[in-house]
Amino acid sequence: MQRGVLYLVREEAMYILEMLIARHRDIIEQETHLSHLIGSAKNEKSLREGIGKIKAFFDEAVMEHINFEEKILFPALKRAVPDGRVRIVYELETEHEPIKAKVMAFRAQTEGLYQAISVEKQKAIIGLCKDVLSLAVPHSRRENEIIPPLIKAFFKAEDYQRVEEQYYQFIRQKPA
Ligand SMILES: [Fe+2]
Repeated sequence: MQRGVLYLVREEAMYILEMLIARHRDIIEQETHLSHLIGSAKNEKSLREGIGKIKAFFDEAVMEHINFEEKILFPALKRAVPDGRVRIVYELETEHEPIKAKVMAFRAQTEGLYQAISVEKQKAIIGLCKDVLSLAVPHSRRENEIIPPLIKAFFKAEDYQRVEEQYYQFIRQKPA
């Protein structure tokens, strides 16, 4: 019976790993598309058209990734990974700070864009978009290399289970 339960937990654990890798892959794969979108936003009209997609990507992919890791995954890794190896988890968490700051600055610049967007503001928005991508993409690549091996090496059945449960709570609480 116990073996059956553990087997099930392992199966679910694979889902967590796959989900994590898929989230990072989303960010990495969207880079070309978004870079193109940002690159083609050469005037106010094209910038306005592109902003919605870029904003959705920042909210749904980048910030959701950060929230999930900071609220659920990193605390679980800090509990499970031994002292000698845990420093990298703190380093990855620190990499989130400049990404969050740039996304917040992007949100502030693009909030309620009902009036004409000055050329200066257009440049600032495009610059922030480029900054977010240039930080979030290498960060996601790094995490995809570092986190799955740590999970595989140090997570016990109860760690998988806890992350799994918290993940479902997390997606249920997501604002509509
Ligand atoms: Fe991250």
